[in-house]
Amino acid sequence: MAIYEQIIEATDYIKQKISRQPKVAIICGSGLGSLANSIEKQVIIPYNEIPHFAISSVKGHKGQLVFGELNGMEVVAMQGRFHFYEGYTMQEVTFPVRVLKRLCVEILIVTNAAGGLNPEFSVGDIMVIKDHINLMPNPLIGKNDERLGERFPSMSGIYNKELRELFMKTAHENRIKVREGVYLGLTGPSFETNAENRFFQKVGADCVGMSTVPEVIVAAHEGLKVFAASVISNIFIDKEGVISKHDDVLSAVSKASFEVEKLIKNFIFNLHSNIL
Ligand code: HPA
Repeated sequence: MAIYEQIIEATDYIKQKISRQPKVAIICGSGLGSLANSIEKQVIIPYNEIPHFAISSVKGHKGQLVFGELNGMEVVAMQGRFHFYEGYTMQEVTFPVRVLKRLCVEILIVTNAAGGLNPEFSVGDIMVIKDHINLMPNPLIGKNDERLGERFPSMSGIYNKELRELFMKTAHENRIKVREGVYLGLTGPSFETNAENRFFQKVGADCVGMSTVPEVIVAAHEGLKVFAASVISNIFIDKEGVISKHDDVLSAVSKASFEVEKLIKNFIFNLHSNIL
């Protein structure tokens, strides 16, 4: 079955279960799944029920779509995402984004945990992604189906400026300091060497992570408006023997998750009154 037909089957399955039509979707990153728990009037669809969806396996990630209201606004959250390092193909990693588009979502909010490279950053900082550097395989490689998007989509300005400005304004209103910067996407699952991190700093990356870029490229291919933010879960220290651990990443993010949740909730509220 061609990918287009698979997307339609998955979309039809969800539509038949749910009458809601959120315009905003949120992909919850590592340790940020609790954002989905604060959704009210929840209707949950586990990924393993949805035709052609993969099943997420990493610690810190559940695997379900959560429909409902956040701060009174209609949303759908992906509680758990698929990573390329788990062995999924890029088509599997990005499949949910194409389904969200056909559920009539207009804005995609993507969150993740990332390692800080900018020396001014601290653990727990929130960084709005203004651009990315992709060092992962491109999810659009292969035959292009024009019904999904164009062959050579532009990636210039894909992190929507209007959304970034609104998020910054929301952060200011809530007196929460946020950073802005460039996210560099790698496949993982090994963390970077010190030499690699020095190299990434030199080419202009502010943080590094193993997700987000594939979903954002496909969202741009689909013509969705994208907003993305990283929680800085660890900081690169250029000393031998300083190691990053996934458990440390999760605990750092869970400490910051309260502020992230508050910000995203208020951002969504502002989205509905200003943009949607
Ligand atoms: N490197 C890559 N991915 C990450 C890191 C890191 O240090 N922290 C969280 N995700």
